[in-house]
Amino acid sequence: MNGAIFFSGQYGSTAQYADWISEATGLPMFAVNDANADPSKFDYLILGSSVIVYKLSIRKWARANLASIENKPTILFTVSGAPAGAKLDGWIAGSLPESLTSKMKHVALRGRLRPAELNWWVRLILRIGAWKNDDPEAKKEELLGFDYMDKSSIKPILELVQQIQSSEATPS
Ligand SMILES: Cc1cc2nc3c(=O)[nH]c(=O)nc-3n(C[C@H](O)[C@H](O)[C@H](O)COP(=O)(O)O)c2cc1C
Repeated sequence: MNGAIFFSGQYGSTAQYADWISEATGLPMFAVNDANADPSKFDYLILGSSVIVYKLSIRKWARANLASIENKPTILFTVSGAPAGAKLDGWIAGSLPESLTSKMKHVALRGRLRPAELNWWVRLILRIGAWKNDDPEAKKEELLGFDYMDKSSIKPILELVQQIQSSEATPS
């Protein structure tokens, strides 16, 4: 049973988590914009996606590759500013088809935002988001940035990978 990690992110935090998971599991990792990123070659998948403006950045790739994903054991990790909860669940439901979300396991990881790395219009989008956000903590983070990167938070993903691998090893 061979698996692989496919990730989508722009500013490096999703790639960093993918790298930590790859290092801990020995699974190969592919950026979804890499021409060699072919999920049909694998038996189970770990999909990693950043959350940008209430949407998963992996959504177009996931829909384009749906036939190779939907019937396989799949773990989704999201990387966002928001913590696990109803808001994040709603963004996932709005980004991916139900045929995928109903079967995949989800682990919410928190990322990093460094305003100095962003160009002026992305900073403007965040300012508008902050203005519309009624959560004072999230509002502050959208303006000033944050860093929640935490290697130990990948632990639930490693446990899920072990479960997938051991379920295959057990004769039915
Ligand atoms: C333009 C922009 C919009 C964002 N929108 C959201 C959002 O809607 N919800 C959220 O929780 N985090 C949001 N974030 C935070 C990102 O999810 C976080 O910075 C993540 O670590 C980015 O992943 P990456 O470094 O792999 O690109 C946004 C960040 C940017 C730059």
